[in-house]
Amino acid sequence: MHVSDLALTDFRSFTDVVVGLAPGVNALVGPNGQGKTNLVEALGYLATFSSHRVGTDAALVRQGAQRAVVRARAVRGERSAVVELEIVAGRANRARLNRSPVSRTRDVLGIVRTVLFAPEDLALVKGDPDGRRRFLDDLAVMLTPRLAAVRADYERVLRQRSALLKTAGAAGRASASSLRTLDVWDGHLAAAGAQILAARMTLVAALAPHVAAEYERVSAGQGDARITYRASVEEAGASGEAVPGPGVAASSGPALSSGAATSSGAPGTAPDVAVLEAALLEAMARLRTKEIERGVCLVGPHRDDLVLALGDLPAKGYASHGESWSMALALRLASYDLLRADTSGEWSGDGEPVLVLDDVFAELDARRRERLAGIVAGAEQVLITAAAVEDVPEALDGARFDVMGGEVTRVR
Ligand SMILES: Nc1ncnc2c1ncn2[C@@H]1O[C@H](COP(=O)(O)OP(=O)(O)OP(=O)(O)O)[C@@H](O)[C@H]1O
Ligand SMILES: [Mg+2]
Repeated sequence: MHVSDLALTDFRSFTDVVVGLAPGVNALVGPNGQGKTNLVEALGYLATFSSHRVGTDAALVRQGAQRAVVRARAVRGERSAVVELEIVAGRANRARLNRSPVSRTRDVLGIVRTVLFAPEDLALVKGDPDGRRRFLDDLAVMLTPRLAAVRADYERVLRQRSALLKTAGAAGRASASSLRTLDVWDGHLAAAGAQILAARMTLVAALAPHVAAEYERVSAGQGDARITYRASVEEAGASGEAVPGPGVAASSGPALSSGAATSSGAPGTAPDVAVLEAALLEAMARLRTKEIERGVCLVGPHRDDLVLALGDLPAKGYASHGESWSMALALRLASYDLLRADTSGEWSGDGEPVLVLDDVFAELDARRRERLAGIVAGAEQVLITAAAVEDVPEALDGARFDVMGGEVTRVR
């Protein structure tokens, strides 16, 4: 797919702007602070309902305005659809499809698909697990929009159950009624958690070969990039507590899937949701005293991690700066590969996302730059932001826009 028109009203620094994007390469060029990232952030928001820069929506609405509106036309061959989101800080978004309101906002998920690579992605490698979990969940939702509801459900249940554990812990001893309530929340957490786990494990198994291949491509055959999923429920199995260990996960708990994306990394069939649900329930029962003492949920997808390794060493704490960049880039390019190959869902046959590279080329050395340019040159649509024209590799010929003073002008 590609996006032909992107319109922003009161989004970030823009009052009103419409950009007519071309298939192929689109370079957005302008001095610092002129709104280049704001533009691609808006497009990314349509794809994931979240910003790659901030966790809350308040910063997305232009200072002094009440609401922001982002609209884009997604084109797939002969078909096209106009997706529109209205963002009001602190309230649920409102969505329109082809100018008509939809009953559920998530009905428009999956129409605009993007893979966005930005300097913030270095945190995928160097930062905390929550960024990597978000990476997996955002991608899983893009592939299977129905999971958006499961994800929201899980977050709600997690908040409620944590609050309950805290109250029980503060009281010194949990009352019989709070234990009964806890049983109910255990059930909810296990049900939603198992679906998220299954989705992530399947995704990691599918991503792994692409990450290895893309890492090799961007780094010119150096290094051997591996990803594995570390599930707290698996680790809770033997030791009695979910403790993140060093390096790549060692399997100690019950066999949660037939090999797919578990610690063994061996290919296998999809993980069984019922088995995962039972394992979560069992772990919560075993950890209950500890959970009440500490007032936190100790097991579940919110305690898991995506482990990135180069050869036998974890990337985090070991990889060089350049290697970390290559790893982050490999994760994004692998996502791109998966989405492109995805033929499920309503838009089957055209899962190809828009590839967005925000300020990326300036960060790479000449060789990596050239390789990346070669890789993205064949994409249906690529948006590139750069502060200077020289930062856009010559091989990436296409449309160019000046971004300046709240205006976006096509100059080529
Ligand atoms: N909610 C908002 N209301 C008004 N202005 C905003 C808002 N959020 C961000 N801005 C402004 O948008 C500008 C940043 O835009 P953006 O990050 O897109 O710049 P950029 O062109 O990508 O710059 P760089 O080349 O440095 O990456 C800043 O000047 C910032 O003050
Ligand atoms: Mg920027």
